[in-house]
Amino acid sequence: MRVSTLATLFSTLLGAATALPVIEKRENTTSSEALGLSSISGLNVTYSSPTNASLPNVVIFATGGTIAGSSASNTDTTGYQAGVVGVAALVQAVPELLGIANVVGSQISNIGSQDMNATIVLRMAKLANEILCSEGSEVDGLVITHGTDTMEETAYFMDATVNCQKPVILVGAMRPSTAISADGPANLLQAVTLAADPAARDRGAMVVLNDRIAAAAYVVKSNANTLETFRAVEQGYLGMFLSSKPVFYYPPVQPTFKRTFDVSNITELPLVDVLYGHQDFDYLLIRAAVADGAKGIVIAGTGAGSQTTPSMPDIDALIAKGFPVVASSKVNVGAVVPDNDKSSFIRAGFQNPVKSRMQLQLALASGYTLDEIRTSFEGILYDYLY
Ligand SMILES: *[C@@H]1O[C@H](CO)[C@@H](O)[C@H](O)[C@H]1NC(C)=O
Ligand SMILES: *[C@@H]1O[C@H](CO)[C@@H](O)[C@H](O)[C@H]1NC(C)=O
Ligand SMILES: *[C@@H]1O[C@H](CO)[C@@H](O)[C@H](O)[C@H]1NC(C)=O
Ligand SMILES: *[C@@H]1O[C@H](CO)[C@@H](O)[C@H](O)[C@H]1NC(C)=O
Ligand SMILES: *[C@@H]1O[C@H](CO)[C@@H](O)[C@H](O)[C@H]1NC(C)=O
Repeated sequence: MRVSTLATLFSTLLGAATALPVIEKRENTTSSEALGLSSISGLNVTYSSPTNASLPNVVIFATGGTIAGSSASNTDTTGYQAGVVGVAALVQAVPELLGIANVVGSQISNIGSQDMNATIVLRMAKLANEILCSEGSEVDGLVITHGTDTMEETAYFMDATVNCQKPVILVGAMRPSTAISADGPANLLQAVTLAADPAARDRGAMVVLNDRIAAAAYVVKSNANTLETFRAVEQGYLGMFLSSKPVFYYPPVQPTFKRTFDVSNITELPLVDVLYGHQDFDYLLIRAAVADGAKGIVIAGTGAGSQTTPSMPDIDALIAKGFPVVASSKVNVGAVVPDNDKSSFIRAGFQNPVKSRMQLQLALASGYTLDEIRTSFEGILYDYLY
């Protein structure tokens, strides 16, 4: 039944490519007015549920991705077009949401997450701080619908930059909304339920997919195709959903290695490149990255972040000049361990390459010196070990 409802809805929607934003106003006040969100510049509210004072308030940032994807065939789980369906249609496809929370939907972008970029994540982090963390905010939680390909990156970024106890939930889908057994509607319902739940507070940003709740700090996409893809291999899940209700395995806790950044004065993020380690890796790509304007480099090194002998003179010369070179691991699981003497390249600890890139961007944008960048990555693990 869900599939046919969705199919009808989406064929209507797709027929009108420039469908007008839907603003529902069944009562006198819509949620966005009641929550004082109508005046926030750049929020682009395109859906606002009627207000029910006895329900919690959840804002949805819709960015696109498979959850908003569409295909002509209901058996396609590849080759579909991501980022087609708007936030109003997403919410209306899951009317159960409106019994859980007052929902305000903002269309931030409508792109596959391979096109998510520094401009948009920074804008979302600033908006999220304004909406969730400003004095007197009555918004209980934020949900971000997002493509899964780079979800762990945006999740990391929000975790590092939005810290006022309120939950930020990243959610997506592995199957487009037109597929048989599309996972998006249930995932969205669970994400909104989680964002509205007081038990979700003080846990940082989280990723919801396939009935699981994972900490943004640790989660990685581990399978390119299947529903069972977001995992924190070593650290495990924070919880799961039973009958679409979140169940946490432990009381609220923040990741040991978490570093936070204040983005209020950051207007852009510097260019940081990730280079992939392999046999015969030499200095060529390092020099190309620097020549092309990179302000920092992350090397997805082999194993525990080892670097090839031919690349080391360039790496050490850059470090000596104060240019940050961070070694993470292409293995994605386990730690790149700091050296006792804190020389040479910076070790990323448990931070994987793509999250290390964002941490380095945030540290650079915050004006950190090379030593401060080193401490940001190595400090906590160094104190464990030495
Ligand atoms: C909505 O507006 C009507 C007419 O102005 C008024 O009678 C009613 O009390 C209002 N309801 C609420 C919940 O404010
Ligand atoms: C408001 O929400 C409460 C709690 O879920 C529910 O009992 C009530 O019926 C809702 N009111 C309206 C007008 O929908
Ligand atoms: C707001 O969202 C609508 C609906 O998706 C879109 O057409 C419009 O371009 C968006 N505006 C901005 C400023 O992002
Ligand atoms: C990010 O994408 C948006 C539109 O999708 C574009 O306007 C913006 O310039 C891009 N930013 C960067 C840094 O590429
Ligand atoms: C941002 O800039 C303002 C004005 O210069 C300053 O008062 C504030 O401390 C800065 N915030 C941060 C986090 O640097």
